[in-house]
Amino acid sequence: MRKIPLFLFLLFTCIIQANNPIIKINTGEVSLIYKVADNGRLYQSYLGKRLNMDSDIALLPTGGEAYITHGMEDYFEPAIHILHNDGNSSLLLKYVSHNTKLLSPGVEETVITLQDDKYPVTVKLFYVAYTKENIIKTYTEISHKEKKAVTMHKYASSMLHLNRGKYFLTEFAGDWAHEANVTELPLEFGKKTLDSKLGSRANMFCSPFFQLSLDDKSAENTGEILVGTLGWTGNFYFTFEIDNKNDLRILSGINPYASEYQLQPNEIFRTPDFYFTYSLTGKGQASRNFHNWARNHQLKDGDKTRMTLLNNWEATYFDFDEERLVGLMDDAVKLGVDMFLLDDGWFANKYPRSSDHQGLGDWDETADKLPHGVGHLVSEAQKKGIKFGIWIEPEMVNPKSELYEKHKDWVIHLSNRDEYYFRNQLVLDLSNPAVQDFVFGVVDNLMTKYPGIAFFKWDCNSPITNIYSPYLKGKQSHLYIDYVRGLYKVLDRIKQKYPDLPMMLCSGGGGRSDYEALKYFTEFWPSDNTDPIERLFIQWGYSQIFPAKTLCAHVTTWNKNASIKFRTDVAMMGKLGFDIKLAEMNENEQKFCHQAVDNYNRLKPAVLEGDLYRLVSPYDGNHTSSMYVAKDGNAVVFAFDIYPRYGEKLLPVRLQGLDKDKKYRVKEINLMPGAGSSLNGNDKVYSGEYLMSVGLELFSTQILNSRVIQVVAD
Ligand code: DGJ
Repeated sequence: MRKIPLFLFLLFTCIIQANNPIIKINTGEVSLIYKVADNGRLYQSYLGKRLNMDSDIALLPTGGEAYITHGMEDYFEPAIHILHNDGNSSLLLKYVSHNTKLLSPGVEETVITLQDDKYPVTVKLFYVAYTKENIIKTYTEISHKEKKAVTMHKYASSMLHLNRGKYFLTEFAGDWAHEANVTELPLEFGKKTLDSKLGSRANMFCSPFFQLSLDDKSAENTGEILVGTLGWTGNFYFTFEIDNKNDLRILSGINPYASEYQLQPNEIFRTPDFYFTYSLTGKGQASRNFHNWARNHQLKDGDKTRMTLLNNWEATYFDFDEERLVGLMDDAVKLGVDMFLLDDGWFANKYPRSSDHQGLGDWDETADKLPHGVGHLVSEAQKKGIKFGIWIEPEMVNPKSELYEKHKDWVIHLSNRDEYYFRNQLVLDLSNPAVQDFVFGVVDNLMTKYPGIAFFKWDCNSPITNIYSPYLKGKQSHLYIDYVRGLYKVLDRIKQKYPDLPMMLCSGGGGRSDYEALKYFTEFWPSDNTDPIERLFIQWGYSQIFPAKTLCAHVTTWNKNASIKFRTDVAMMGKLGFDIKLAEMNENEQKFCHQAVDNYNRLKPAVLEGDLYRLVSPYDGNHTSSMYVAKDGNAVVFAFDIYPRYGEKLLPVRLQGLDKDKKYRVKEINLMPGAGSSLNGNDKVYSGEYLMSVGLELFSTQILNSRVIQVVAD
């Protein structure tokens, strides 16, 4: 074949690029490439391992249209569907321009502007590439200049195309106290949608994240996998559709269910962010990408440590008074934790919050329970050298409350029907600015009166039921969207006024686990289920996407068949807390817990800031193990025997993430006082090479046995 001279090739490439731009969105390891075709429309040409040679990129096929519109020649699920004022619902988007700028070192934003040439509708596609962490954030802005509002039926945050032989989807579904179960299924022709319609939260039955493994089933350390999640604390959807050519499109965004949006002229509709990573070496790397990105760029106080705590919920439920709480603070001191957290039941007077049937909405201390108010508790905690945190559920109301009596107009309800209650409560109408002020005021009033409060646990136990907003009147289809926007307005104000206030997000379990909410919250409560065996599975599921410092894990009395050591070892893999009565533990157990807190504080650089390597899945059998490697190279390994079989063959577990040329001392810690280690090779020095090639005999045949092993450079 005759060679084309290089200068001619370059000239040719430049001419093509000037007329048909090629837009490259690159992270350190991944490229997402768009091309403008001769018809002026934008196509996604490539998504995968980073491509570096422009000469190769020029030869890429055109691919699938970037943001497919309703009403044209495509026969599958569109990204956008709008109805114009003249009754026409077609849209055809042509490339107008694009630009790229550095937002901060290692963070680059590309904006591609598209327009219809028949209707004044503009769609801007945003891509923010995080070079080091290999995460791409994408969202869309939609606007128009028609005379009157247009109706938007669909408005995806993102659309991605893949062209592979096979696709395997891992979803994380479940229920209350049974969250984030890991299930993988092959995708075939047609559509699979993961979505939720809960209104005030993304999750309860279905987590707002997924893993999509390409060509083969997913594995921890091999294979190409795309992992995505949506930052939206409300109804979401992901649609995976395989077409007649076995091409896959992935759509994500706000669930358009019952949410037609009237977009006014010149209003900009900004979709939520869709974040994704593409790993070439399996799920483990994808998780580490998300963990690093979250700590570096997204989480509230992502770079800060987290406080250990004692929570009174399971020790007292609603049954407490001042004296009992101050006694529990002494327990917190005995445990050596940083903070005492007062849970539900401290407020309301006309209808005191003595159960979950009443009082929600009336945020004054119950006088006979707390005669000296919250301020007294704050100062008692301070005297004892610990911090004080407090529970609120400010978006909700019990019908038996003064708030409901005074402000029925603030409550989402159907005035012509019987009310349906989820946990005996209703949701306040956060689309209403007056309600936003009230909800902000719950935090602001407490902080103004008691500036010593160091932490909030923000609960949200009910989905939106009885769906009707007295405030929105004729615009009911905006409620799901405006509720979440209202929530963010409140959280923005809180963050602005109290930037250093850590807050935990709780939603009767893992209902509010999304990365937009985590801009405002330092951590979240993954499940009300604290049975340590269940937690091994639940934490395994959430760890796919969220770093350990976000996963509140409390030692409780759920499943007393598991020793206090087993329960604590499980909780130490997340953000450690206790929700337990010390008085019910013997001296040895109390001593163990105190030592465990000390150990945890020492291990924080590994667990909270380090790299997670999931070694053995609880889904694969009777054991599980994970390890965390701190930035300084030291590591901690957690190993659990759940229900080993009689005569089961136990294999050594190979560690990961170590330096093969370094020497490490292996030492079992977190033992019950007086107990010795039965770990083979305990207190011996091994090379990283040995530990990663031969491994350690981490498992035993003992039911509910656990081990914590430090691996420290010698
Ligand atoms: C549900 C939470 O998940 C619990 O931890 C506790 O805070 C209760 N709400 C209080 O009502």
